[in-house]
Amino acid sequence: MIINPYKNGIKLALAMAAGAAVIFSHIPKSDAHGDVAPQAVDTTGLPNLGEEWLEENPWRDPNGEFWSTAVKIGASGFNQNCARCHGLEVISGGLAPDLRFLEADDSGDEWFLERFKHGYTQNGTTKMPAFGELLGQEAAWAIRTYIETRPDEGAIDEHADRLKAIREELSTLKPDDPKVAELRDEMQKIAETIETGSGAPRADSVASRAAADLDGSETSIHKAVETLTIGLSAAE
Ligand code: HEC
Repeated sequence: MIINPYKNGIKLALAMAAGAAVIFSHIPKSDAHGDVAPQAVDTTGLPNLGEEWLEENPWRDPNGEFWSTAVKIGASGFNQNCARCHGLEVISGGLAPDLRFLEADDSGDEWFLERFKHGYTQNGTTKMPAFGELLGQEAAWAIRTYIETRPDEGAIDEHADRLKAIREELSTLKPDDPKVAELRDEMQKIAETIETGSGAPRADSVASRAAADLDGSETSIHKAVETLTIGLSAAE
């Protein structure tokens, strides 16, 4: 595989300039070699799944108790271990397959586990390292849940202008303004229309995340505005 470190550096710089520095700063600044050690994933908050590997994602159901925790932990695990090859937000830059379209069903799970556990070696060169034993299945299924809940290609685009306008409006409001709840409900409705590329039942998108940020707390507006800023610049 031919690697251009200069190009990669530019990409990283762009992502950071776009305001993503906070979220993505822990991505190892190496290139897409298979020889970087897997980074442990803190799975606190998810139940222990035992020794034996499951065959299907236990956290696929968006109404299940652990769905949003799995997405959150999976996002961090993905950014630390997979993004340098498979792309920020799982949008592939061409170095490795785009994982957003891996189907959210048992055959997709089987293929996911095969690569996750064993990696991929071609002619003696490691193209993808093995993660299975080192990260374990809780991290595996959290990352799987994050991947399969990515919005479909272009799914945010038609809402980007409205979400930007909501961001502007929010930044002028106090957390207890009744208008905040209205904007939260509107973002929730937008979130429900956004589809995944994998066929998973619910997308975790900038709209659903910003809506969830608006929990009435003192810092809620600030958090939602930041989520919108980062999410919308990553989508561009
Ligand atoms: C060093 C680069 C690299 C890293 C890091 C990496 N991958 Fe991969 N991955 C690849 C390449 C290259 C392939 C294509 C291999 C093949 O032809 O099947 C691949 C294939 C896959 C596939 C099969 C996709 C398909 O459409 O066939 C899955 C699933 C996958 N990777 C998941 C992950 C996950 C999850 C992580 C992080 C825990 C990860 N990868 C980290 C390079 C990488």
